[in-house]
Amino acid sequence: MVYFFEKRGDGMPRVTLVDVFKHRITQKYLRRSGIHHAVTVAGHAFKLAVKKGVSPDLAAKAALLHDMGHYEWYKDGKWDYEEYRKHDIHAIKGAERAHKLLIRLGEDRLVAKEVSLAVLLHTDSYLPFSLSEQRTLLQEVVEEADRMDEQPHGLHHYNVMTPSDAVKRLNRLDQKITDYYENRFEG
Ligand SMILES: [Fe+2]
Repeated sequence: MVYFFEKRGDGMPRVTLVDVFKHRITQKYLRRSGIHHAVTVAGHAFKLAVKKGVSPDLAAKAALLHDMGHYEWYKDGKWDYEEYRKHDIHAIKGAERAHKLLIRLGEDRLVAKEVSLAVLLHTDSYLPFSLSEQRTLLQEVVEEADRMDEQPHGLHHYNVMTPSDAVKRLNRLDQKITDYYENRFEG
C-alpha cells in the first residue's frame, strides 16, 4: 500500500521529519543510539522507498525513529554487549515510543501504526524466529536502510552529527518528500 500524504484527508498538513526530530520525546531518546545514524538511515530509506514504490514519508519517519527504543547497557563506562544481547528489546520499546510521539504530533493514525510496525520489525535479533521474507515492503526498506549504515561493533552509533546539522539535512529530506508527492522529484 502506498500512502499519499501531501494532503491529508482531514486537511491537516503533513507532520514533517523536522517536527518529529524537534519533539522532546525524540530529543530524549534519539541521542542514545545517535543522531548521525538515525538521520543517515532516514536518507537511505528515502532513496530505497522511491526505488521500490513505498511511501518515502513513512519510510523516512520509521528510519529516523527505528532505534529510539535503545536502553543504555553501560557497565563501568563501557557498552556491555553480553547484557545487551541477552536483554535487548529496543525494537519493542522504540515502536511504542514512536507511536506515542507521532500521535502527540497529530500524525494520521494509519501512518502512526505503519511507522510503529516498521520500527518493531526492523530487526529480528530479539525474536525467537526469523522475519526474513515476512516483512512488508515498507518494513524491508527500513531494515535494509539500517543495514546500509551498519559498522562492526556498533560503531555507527558513535558517529557524530550536531542537532543543527540534523535539522538541515532533515529539512532537505522533507523538501524531497514534498517534491516526490507533487511529482517534482527527479532523483
Ligand atoms: Fe539502527
